[in-house]
Amino acid sequence: MNTFILLGPPGAGKGTQADLISAELGIPKISTGDMLRSAVASKSDLGNRVEDILNSGKLVSDDIIIELINDRINQSDCKSGYLFDGVPRTLGQANLFLQNDIEVKKVIDISLDDELIIKRMSGRRFHIASGRSYHIEFNPPKAEGLDDDTGEPLIQREDDFPETVKKRLEVYHAQTKPLTDFYKLKASEGSMSFISINGNQSVDEVFSEIKSYLYK
Ligand code: AP5
Repeated sequence: MNTFILLGPPGAGKGTQADLISAELGIPKISTGDMLRSAVASKSDLGNRVEDILNSGKLVSDDIIIELINDRINQSDCKSGYLFDGVPRTLGQANLFLQNDIEVKKVIDISLDDELIIKRMSGRRFHIASGRSYHIEFNPPKAEGLDDDTGEPLIQREDDFPETVKKRLEVYHAQTKPLTDFYKLKASEGSMSFISINGNQSVDEVFSEIKSYLYK
């Protein structure tokens, strides 16, 4: 089974690469960020509980995340594999993955410096329904302000405003960055493999490095 985690700071390009990997391998992308935003948009109980947390750049609790993931991977489209985009993002979640026997064979870490992240976030435009992201300069849609596949309008995410991006970066360094060492250790023990990729390259260049790893 093809089972992957995409790790990396906010804005490193995880969502962009997740869409390309998903199309390449025919496996679903599982993005907890997309799932939570969709809950907020539909004003469900979960959405109402997490809306303020998302807008502040803090993390939703590990219990909510593991419940979402367990439900999602039991759906039929995950039978031949799946790609986690932005989850796990705390050591607590990584340990819950192990306790729940959630299979992961390969971990792809995309790295990018904080200054470049801030630049990318300010130009990001987002299609909420699909999770597709664009950049006004680096990765523009075919028609300005519109999603390539649906033609629907793109938005700027509330958590992409500069003060919230700073908070998200603080949270990343404190709570998510330690996962790189956690998975490097697992890889050295032989239970999975790990690769780190320089995110400061074009979308195609990053994908080309990832693609050669997918089939190893
Ligand atoms: P989430 O949606 O997961 O956000 P994130 O991890 O912060 O990642 P982003 O979606 O912001 O960035 P990305 O790496 O996908 O970059 P993208 O491809 O768009 O989470 C949002 C919130 O939900 C969290 O803050 C938290 O509150 C909550 N949450 C989610 N999961 C959780 C969990 N597991 N536990 C607890 N809470 C959770 O690219 C960025 C921009 O750069 C785009 O404009 C893109 O077009 C452009 N770009 C991409 N690649 C390149 C390139 N190579 N060169 C130039 N530009 C590029």
